[in-house]
Amino acid sequence: MRAVVLTGFGEPKKCLKYREDHPKPVRKPGEVLVAVKATGVNPAECHIRNAKLPKAMITIPQILGCDLAGVVLEADPTSKFKVGDRVVSCTGQFLRDPWGTYAEYVSVREALVAPLPAAVSFVEGAALPIAGMTAWQALAPSMPLGGKRVLVLGGAGGVGHFAVQIAKTQGAYVAATCSTRNTDFVTRELGADRAIDYTQEKLETAAGEPYDVIVDLVGAEPYVWGLLRKRGRLAAVSFDQTMQGRQGWGLVLGVVARMMRLKLASALGLCPQYDSVVQDVAPDKGLIQASAPALSCPPPSTHTHTHTLPPPASGVFWGPVGVVLGCRDRAVPYVSVSRTDGGSW
Ligand SMILES: NC(=O)c1ccc[n+]([C@@H]2O[C@H](COP(=O)([O-])OP(=O)(O)OC[C@H]3O[C@@H](n4cnc5c(N)ncnc54)[C@H](OP(=O)(O)O)[C@@H]3O)[C@@H](O)[C@H]2O)c1
Repeated sequence: MRAVVLTGFGEPKKCLKYREDHPKPVRKPGEVLVAVKATGVNPAECHIRNAKLPKAMITIPQILGCDLAGVVLEADPTSKFKVGDRVVSCTGQFLRDPWGTYAEYVSVREALVAPLPAAVSFVEGAALPIAGMTAWQALAPSMPLGGKRVLVLGGAGGVGHFAVQIAKTQGAYVAATCSTRNTDFVTRELGADRAIDYTQEKLETAAGEPYDVIVDLVGAEPYVWGLLRKRGRLAAVSFDQTMQGRQGWGLVLGVVARMMRLKLASALGLCPQYDSVVQDVAPDKGLIQASAPALSCPPPSTHTHTHTLPPPASGVFWGPVGVVLGCRDRAVPYVSVSRTDGGSW
């Protein structure tokens, strides 16, 4: 089959190889074999490729990628999926599993597969799983969000643009940080009440009244604790600050130490309620809810927004189930696997 295989560590050109003769995965009982139509690209894969994480933890060669949208090719006779069904999945592929989604075929546990609504394109669907679930799981402990004030740090990004929309659909007041080029996107398209341009404004002064929930996607903790209400909740998703200048086991230890420090401080009442968001890849932990009819949304937008990858990886769409899912940055057919804006993950 065709696949993009990680053969070492470093720059994409050096270590990501396009192969046409890679072995096809063999479906095991309980799994669904999917013909991949589009795959998502997420920062975690770039951290693996850059050897941010300890090399001993990583299988080489391996196919990277954990997000897919595609069509069922094979399933158990008792499966709820049948051949030809359109599906979406976060496969949970990470570090040691050599069978990622930058590939033509993926065999994935049925429990991790969800139906893809007919009106949602494969490219848009592939942008949803891990980023959508992360956003959902970051907000879930604070739900219901109606009437609450939510601040999303990194509101224009892969996770943030889902977090903004989920919070808005639940009736929260939402402020989100982004750079100048994304302020219209965050307010007019995603529906945030306030975009805080982090290149122009000082967060502490621009943020206004304290927040019930802060979703931190840029590693701003602990500097943002002061922006929370007394019993506010901080969902820390990004380890970017901790990761700076570290890699390998030093990075792992740094992340664990940070999580423990915060848990302890939170338990002792020294800082607000703190959630370190570690994704659970079960579809019912956000993937299905993110496309649930219970969500009601602002009007659909037809604007196409290009952020870090060229079209067709962009767009905000309106599904027949009544939900807006913003899909940007992450979904690329097959081989486009690195940022084109010169940024580094
Ligand atoms: N994607 C996933 O599925 C996933 C899953 C779990 C964890 N994470 C982690 O979550 C974090 C965010 O991931 P992502 O995929 O959403 O990244 P992303 O698409 O690169 O988005 C990051 C956003 O943060 C904004 N930003 C950058 N610097 C900022 C600053 N100093 N202050 C305020 N906002 C700033 C950027 O805004 P502008 O573009 O406007 O500059 C950008 O939209 C990363 O640490 C990642 O490892 C991601």
